[in-house]
Amino acid sequence: MRCLFTASLAAAGIAGTLAHRVGDSPVRQRKSLGFGPVHKHAYYRSSPYQVVTNAFTRRSEDSDPLEVARLFVEDILADQLSESSSYKIRKDSYTDTNTGITHVYVRQMINGLEVSDGDMNINIKDGLVLSYGNSFFTGPTPSHFMQQQGLDEDIRHPHQEFCDGLTDEIDLHRDSFLASSDQVVMGDSAPSPKADAALKHLAHVHYSNCRFQALPTDMAAKTQERDLDLRTALLQFMVAATPNNHVVNDILGNFEHYLSQMGEYMGGSPFAPSDEPMVFMVDNVPDAVNPVKATLAYHQVAGKDDSVRLSLVWKFEVEMQDNWYEAAVSAVAPHRIVSVVDWASDAPVPIPEPETIATYNVFPFGVNDPEEGKRSIEKENFDVLASPIGWHSLPYANDPSFRGVKVATKEFYRNTTTTWGNNVFAQENWEGQNSYVSNYRPDAGPGKAFDYKYKPKETEKGDALEEAQKHINATVAQLFYTTNKVHDLYYRYGFDEVAGNFQQYNFGRGGQGNDAVIANAQDGSGYNNANFMTPPDGQNGRMRMYLWNTALPYRDGDFEAGIVIHELSHGLSTRLTGGPANSGCLPFGESGGMGEGWGDFLATTIRSTANYSDYAMGSWAANRAQGIRNYPYSLNETINPSTYKTLDKPGYFGVHAIGEVWAQILWVVSQGLIKKHGFTDDLFPPAPSADGSVPTGDFYRPRSGKKPLVPKHGNSLSVLLVLNAMKMQPCRPGFFEARDAIILADQELTGGENFCTLWRGFSSKGLGPDANVVLRTPWGGGVRTDDFEVPLACDSY
Ligand SMILES: *[C@@H]1O[C@H](CO)[C@@H](O)[C@H](O)[C@H]1NC(C)=O
Ligand SMILES: *[C@@H]1O[C@H](CO)[C@@H](O)[C@H](O)[C@H]1NC(C)=O
Ligand SMILES: *[C@@H]1O[C@H](CO)[C@@H](O)[C@H](O)[C@H]1NC(C)=O
Ligand SMILES: *[C@@H]1O[C@H](CO)[C@@H](O)[C@H](O)[C@H]1NC(C)=O
Repeated sequence: MRCLFTASLAAAGIAGTLAHRVGDSPVRQRKSLGFGPVHKHAYYRSSPYQVVTNAFTRRSEDSDPLEVARLFVEDILADQLSESSSYKIRKDSYTDTNTGITHVYVRQMINGLEVSDGDMNINIKDGLVLSYGNSFFTGPTPSHFMQQQGLDEDIRHPHQEFCDGLTDEIDLHRDSFLASSDQVVMGDSAPSPKADAALKHLAHVHYSNCRFQALPTDMAAKTQERDLDLRTALLQFMVAATPNNHVVNDILGNFEHYLSQMGEYMGGSPFAPSDEPMVFMVDNVPDAVNPVKATLAYHQVAGKDDSVRLSLVWKFEVEMQDNWYEAAVSAVAPHRIVSVVDWASDAPVPIPEPETIATYNVFPFGVNDPEEGKRSIEKENFDVLASPIGWHSLPYANDPSFRGVKVATKEFYRNTTTTWGNNVFAQENWEGQNSYVSNYRPDAGPGKAFDYKYKPKETEKGDALEEAQKHINATVAQLFYTTNKVHDLYYRYGFDEVAGNFQQYNFGRGGQGNDAVIANAQDGSGYNNANFMTPPDGQNGRMRMYLWNTALPYRDGDFEAGIVIHELSHGLSTRLTGGPANSGCLPFGESGGMGEGWGDFLATTIRSTANYSDYAMGSWAANRAQGIRNYPYSLNETINPSTYKTLDKPGYFGVHAIGEVWAQILWVVSQGLIKKHGFTDDLFPPAPSADGSVPTGDFYRPRSGKKPLVPKHGNSLSVLLVLNAMKMQPCRPGFFEARDAIILADQELTGGENFCTLWRGFSSKGLGPDANVVLRTPWGGGVRTDDFEVPLACDSY
């Protein structure tokens, strides 16, 4: 679960007691598993140097990029490829129409099975490989996979290591917490709230990940006799994953019964190409809300001697109430969970333009929250490139409210007068359940004027929830408006159909459809938070916004644009990193942290104005001037002292704290670009002309020839560089790879004119060329060295 929120305010829920009830449904205890092996052999080759190997040189400019990728892979893997060891070019590879860079995603195949964490991403332009990342398995190929039995006995146990690491961390924090409490006794100072918060946060992570019951040993031994029985492996995983103790106990007490209830059948298409894995479906899985998809695959694991080897695993996609897991469980030792990623995070037809333009009484886009501005009537000013049919229309064929129903109409598009369209389905979700189609949403009628009052009264605490619910019309309209604006904005910066964006219908422009964002306002499954689940392209993203009981009247997260933008940015970064069809590339540690950081950075950039100011995240909703992070984003090192090395500190264990450091670095880097290139008040590029071409206006620099369009101003340029870099960075990037990808993105976009500006920004926060980390672990940790120097080429400035 990717949540917005940090430890300090979540403290109420950490102890596991559930204080809040909504109607009759208790707020659920959420947990989120996330761990896996680290691959020391993975690498990313970039810097703006052209990648040339012995045999591989530049191909002619008009070569097919997929062919270039193939030649390149075969060159660098020359010693490795054989009949049993191969690769496939994934179908979600695509070309960015602005930069002309083709992003090719390659999956390793061994014995006909995918290596689920054997990824290459190759960035190609004009016949040249610009950069690539590689985490292919390099050891000896195992013989046929059925001969794997017994081989998993001496593998290291990532989950065990993860939990042992956590226990050590907690001990460390307990010491520093106690130390600060001692000072109170001595009359020195108050106990450090940070140490306290860190301890509580760690306790929560531990509770989520480590306090589940493993199968008793005799049962585990028995399960090993079942060969590759996928149901046993799955049920074992559910024991670990379910947050409900009574389900755990029930499964453990009636293991055989549950097994016999689970039905297994073939999924996928019988006509699928032979390099597609065989798909099994399992239904009646306890605590899963849909049948589970299972495929056999290899996963890379570390042996006890530190060598990397392949483990035969069942790969599961498990959709639960609050989580959406991609898990790898050893197929021959089903009590071993090898890796878990939670995907959740706390025109063939002519395109008609809408006849009636909707209006909304909302806080306009750019106003962060009710303290920053006022509501006004805003038009449905959809972007015609991003949302050609407006925000209130979608094909009948892609409308989930007509699923399985034959519609007697010749019309292709259905026009709605509610908050239901091609990009977003917005509705209340007071029950906190998974259904959304028939949940309440405002209907503004044919005039589509979504003009609703928003004036919550101060009430007693007991009536605060009811009072907030009275404003559901205004809330859902606001969430719908903000989410559509973000859809259109990110589209214009390259998060389009081929890049894996969220739309029901893709207008024949590529990518997978049927994946609009399901946006739940006032979701009853929690308070004081928000979250977003990102499955791969072609499946709906799900965003849940919560009420905040931090003040009376309650504050509604739907009205704090920064929180909504943060959540939607999880969808963006997850789909862009490692390709649209791979949702496992920002799982934990530094990459998971950056997944949080990009959201803060983009939310802050969108609200910022020409007159520089510091900004805190979530301060209105949390009713707390310094917001929900440790520090506001600031150029002043007294106000925000974070540097790369800050990640070593106690309390920088979780993804939110890591993300805060990354967002602060990006904030400083982008201010360097703004100083150099100025600031634009409007982040939206101009609408296209009648012939479909995009005018440069005051937004882009004058265009020269075939070169990509380059935003003229520092803030718009920062956003484009950040998105372009997400497309180029490898799966599971660290800070260095993400930094290098931004520098490479500038090389490709502007010819590298900001090379030194970017480096100066990164170096000022310790992320210079010689910054370094050792002893990094799957759960974060490690020892870092800041580098404040810039590359030699920049010294003369
Ligand atoms: C939906 O709206 C479009 C554009 O305004 C219009 O061309 C079409 O006829 C409408 N469809 C229906 C069923 O009203
Ligand atoms: C929401 O708006 C509808 C009219 O569109 C109105 O009938 C309803 O009472 C409103 N709901 C609330 C809770 O005010
Ligand atoms: C920004 O600052 C300038 C001068 O300091 C001032 O004239 C202008 O009104 C300010 N703009 C905003 C939006 O606050
Ligand atoms: C930075 O912030 C501190 C603390 O608010 C303040 O005293 C100092 O003057 C600021 N420095 C600058 C350069 O603005």
